[in-house]
Amino acid sequence: MGGGTLSGMTLTITRLTADDAASIEQWFQATEEVRRHEVPHFPPMTPALVRQFLTHPYPGRLHLWHVALRDGMPVGRVDVNLPTEDNLKTLSFTIEVDPRFRRQGIGRQLLDFVLSVAADHGRTVLMSHSALSLPGLPARDEAGAAFGAATGFSSTLPEVQRRLELASVDEAVLADLLASAWAKAEGYRLVRWHDDTPDDLVDGMAYLDSRLVTDAPMGDLQVEAELADRARMREIEQVERDRGRMTWRTGAVHEQTGQLAAFTAITTHDSIPWHAWQQITIVDPDHRGHRLGTLVKLENLRMFRAESPGVEVIDTFNAAENSYMIAINDQMGFRPVCAAQNWQREL
Ligand SMILES: CC(C)(COP(=O)(O)OP(=O)(O)OC[C@H]1O[C@@H](n2cnc3c(N)ncnc32)[C@H](O)[C@@H]1OP(=O)(O)O)[C@@H](O)C(=O)NCCC(=O)NCCS
Repeated sequence: MGGGTLSGMTLTITRLTADDAASIEQWFQATEEVRRHEVPHFPPMTPALVRQFLTHPYPGRLHLWHVALRDGMPVGRVDVNLPTEDNLKTLSFTIEVDPRFRRQGIGRQLLDFVLSVAADHGRTVLMSHSALSLPGLPARDEAGAAFGAATGFSSTLPEVQRRLELASVDEAVLADLLASAWAKAEGYRLVRWHDDTPDDLVDGMAYLDSRLVTDAPMGDLQVEAELADRARMREIEQVERDRGRMTWRTGAVHEQTGQLAAFTAITTHDSIPWHAWQQITIVDPDHRGHRLGTLVKLENLRMFRAESPGVEVIDTFNAAENSYMIAINDQMGFRPVCAAQNWQREL
């Protein structure tokens, strides 16, 4: 168990490998049924993308993907993510059951499988996530919340997904925001780059990256800082290139010290040309109060739009309590589309 195949009374759980096209296709079918039911606005995975992800794993992570079959038919998936260099007590997972096969005990069987992987790897903190309904947003299927509560998880850290429709961006609003941000950002200059980080900025990036977990709101989630240094940043860049991911970054450098004080990133994937993600924005605590978060986001968006005219929407997730980042996103025109709830259980 813990890796290969688990056969229950009726369920077979098969771990995906890059050369097993049939299992990848079955995993895709189950995942696609759930996506259409839960988050139809999300960009779909494709079998080709799954193969790429399996072939090029991130360093410091053991990511195990499985499809659940009943009588040869894909009915769900269970994916497990094990950090291997930090967060060594943690296991995060995704369990999804095709809506046509719910309330038949499949979810519980998949959770039993997760528990067996946790035991095999000595993990005692389990984390997952599910849809959440929020006032003013379309109602979501809250089966995940009921399942989490029924299986001993506590809810932590709600997050909201926001989307910017690029055709409806208000240029005058962005120009005003930019002017008022610059008014407070004297003594900083901007740097912009695409994909690999220039040599003189990579240590600053690693430093800011390692701060993310300690600085961003995490609710009660037990998350430790991840390993981040020059070598690791370079390894990650290589994986992203291999996976077909492209990144646009803008940073703010403090002129007096030459220190990288803030950065942000927008990413796209070559197989989903209409879609982009606004990723993290980090401002060093020593440099807050200068509108650097707003500045780098706006300038990054400007560069991105000029270079990626085919992209129609940019999505982002924020912890519901991250009022500073949400205020910036709201001003830029990002609008809430759905919400998610994080879950945690200590064994
Ligand atoms: C959550 C999910 C995996 C449950 O799958 P499932 O096969 O229906 O789960 P089970 O049949 O094993 O249900 C186990 C228990 O969870 C609770 N539960 C599950 N769905 C529920 C619902 N819609 N309403 C109320 N309780 C529910 C019940 O207590 C259920 O036991 P019972 O049927 O004996 O009353 C499935 O709904 C799903 O894929 N949702 C989307 C993804 C997601 O949110 N994953 C959860 C991550 S924590």
